[in-house]
Amino acid sequence: MHVNAKTDIYGIIGHPIGHSLSPLLHNAAFESINLNSVYISFDVYEENLKDAILGIKALGIKGMNVTVPHKENVMKYLDYVSDEAKLIGAVNTIKNNNGILEGYNTDVTGFTESLKEHGIEVEGKNAVILGAGGAARAIAVGLSLTGVRSIIIANRSKEKARNLSIYIKNNLGINCIDVTYNDLNQLEEIDILVNVTSVGMSPNINLSPVDENVVVKAKFVYDIIYNPEKTLFLSYAEKHKIRNLNGFDMLINQANHSFKIWTGVNFNKNIILNILKKKDFVK
Ligand code: ATR
Repeated sequence: MHVNAKTDIYGIIGHPIGHSLSPLLHNAAFESINLNSVYISFDVYEENLKDAILGIKALGIKGMNVTVPHKENVMKYLDYVSDEAKLIGAVNTIKNNNGILEGYNTDVTGFTESLKEHGIEVEGKNAVILGAGGAARAIAVGLSLTGVRSIIIANRSKEKARNLSIYIKNNLGINCIDVTYNDLNQLEEIDILVNVTSVGMSPNINLSPVDENVVVKAKFVYDIIYNPEKTLFLSYAEKHKIRNLNGFDMLINQANHSFKIWTGVNFNKNIILNILKKKDFVK
């Protein structure tokens, strides 16, 4: 990478931001197609969010990813927000289009595309989502937009599960109910089971959001966590030979969509995967 006076700047804002893989990913992608661009992480406190967004315009930063805790709050500072991002209620990608700040959400397509790539049919299926936070909402919207028949939302906080299920029913017209984790024991069969909680994420790798007896009911199991590569939750699926997927493909796909929004082209996923492998992020 040769930074000079013509280098375009991209980045990610969030807090904390130290563990993000995005700088590695996007810088590798820029380099792979010889773009004179650089991607930097910015640790932005909530009280500085507005100034940071104004700074994108003032400094002529070309594009920005947005992560926790700013994905929702950032929307009010943008000039345009896509319909999909509005539906999800969160923006993870900003494009500076000649001084007009446009907001998009690539998490949803990142998720639905990873299902497609692995041949997982969503249409007409029933899904169980564990979690009811911002990421769970994106997953619920994604499943709804790809034709899921029904969604069951289980969450520790009953109120959040209720709010999300009402939101999905009212805005996407999908049959959606909320339950407790205990209620999941009553289910006979689950087509698609998705963990969208942070339970099991490194360093708490000995935890799973649900027990093995719930996981065995599923035909397909997805964990959006990618660190560790195989959570305890996924290891239950593996043990019973149930098809399963971790969050790595979603991460790569959402990054690729952001990259396309900024540059007009996709990066080559295999090149990026090889670079991450060399750095030991992928086995
Ligand atoms: P994100 O934007 O990543 O979804 P979030 O909005 O903080 O982050 O949501 C985190 C999710 O993980 C929530 O569903 C949360 O459950 P609560 O709504 O009950 O807080 C879930 N979660 C986090 N830690 C948990 C734990 N120890 N046990 C069960 N659920 C947990």
